[in-house]
Amino acid sequence: MILKTQAASTEPTPAVTRAAAILRAGGLVAFPTETVYGLGAVATDARAVARIFEAKERPHFDPLIVHLGSADWLDRYVASVPPEARRLMERFWPGPLTLVLPKCEDIPDIVTSGLPTVAVRMPAHPVAHALITAVGLPLAAPSANRFGQLSPTTAQAVEEELGSRVDLIVDGGPTQLGIESTIVALGETGPRLLRPGPITMEELCECLGREVMVANGPVATPESPGMLLRHYAPRTPLRVLDSRAITPLPPGRRVGLLAFRSAPPSHGFSAVETLSATGDLREAAANLFAALRRLDAAGVEEIIAEPVPETGLGNAIMDRLRKAAAPRA
Ligand code: TXA
Ligand code: MG
Repeated sequence: MILKTQAASTEPTPAVTRAAAILRAGGLVAFPTETVYGLGAVATDARAVARIFEAKERPHFDPLIVHLGSADWLDRYVASVPPEARRLMERFWPGPLTLVLPKCEDIPDIVTSGLPTVAVRMPAHPVAHALITAVGLPLAAPSANRFGQLSPTTAQAVEEELGSRVDLIVDGGPTQLGIESTIVALGETGPRLLRPGPITMEELCECLGREVMVANGPVATPESPGMLLRHYAPRTPLRVLDSRAITPLPPGRRVGLLAFRSAPPSHGFSAVETLSATGDLREAAANLFAALRRLDAAGVEEIIAEPVPETGLGNAIMDRLRKAAAPRA
């Protein structure tokens, strides 16, 4: 069931109050964050968290992000907060930055897949904030899609992905950023970027005043399963072009085009989606998953994606496109 709420309301609206009651009773609620919709359960309730894995058909080796209502909650759920983590939190929380830190006992092993660390973030979306505050406990919440599929940026997309597997979908309208949070691990070896996202490498380095390493590229058994080769994928095979030169198609093929800026007039594509007519990377990121979803629904045999410039947010967009294009296992 979908219940609408005011996207800008920080107060507990009827939808949020209802959602909080469901969560406290061990239920699953999908809710908007500034990045994508999350599928939430109370993070300290191992049984409720187990239902997330079932609903998503998510492998148990893939740990979840814990969403906090305030940075003050941190001490209850993580064992230590290195100074560099504090600096990143002060600058980027609330917001789309997830930090991987040593965990405390209060976080059940099912949340972290048995890892000694826990991923934490404090979402900036007013509805997410109101919901977590109303529950009074952190929410474990992966993106509200089936495992490996496109993250949902609207309540309707959550409904398509999970339907009745979720007890309630709180509809706060389309999400603003459209791409999952940046993930940074802070260990003894220094800060490492586990997943590129809305907080860019440039911003991280500038805040810390030093280089941030990129954790080993895509691998089969990754440190962060978001680094799996294939992820965030539409059902239709997708190919990323090497350059922005789009050539006309041979006749008889039904191909969809994911264009960055303006699409070429008539190259024989059956469906065309443009990420940003003005070439704005923010707008492109916000449109990415919804555009891929529409191309997936267009009944084409292949989706061709134009590359975007790999600066700032463009890195996160290209990361998602390359993962979507990776061969199926
Ligand atoms: O923007 C987001 O981060 C969204 C919204 C809902 O907050 N959530 C999200 O969650 O993208 P999910 O589960 O789709 O991706 C979480 C990623 C996974 O790739 C997981 O492997 C990684 O976070 N992760 C979680 N805990 C980790 C840990 N302890 N160490 C390394 N990676 C971890
Ligand atoms: Mg996900």
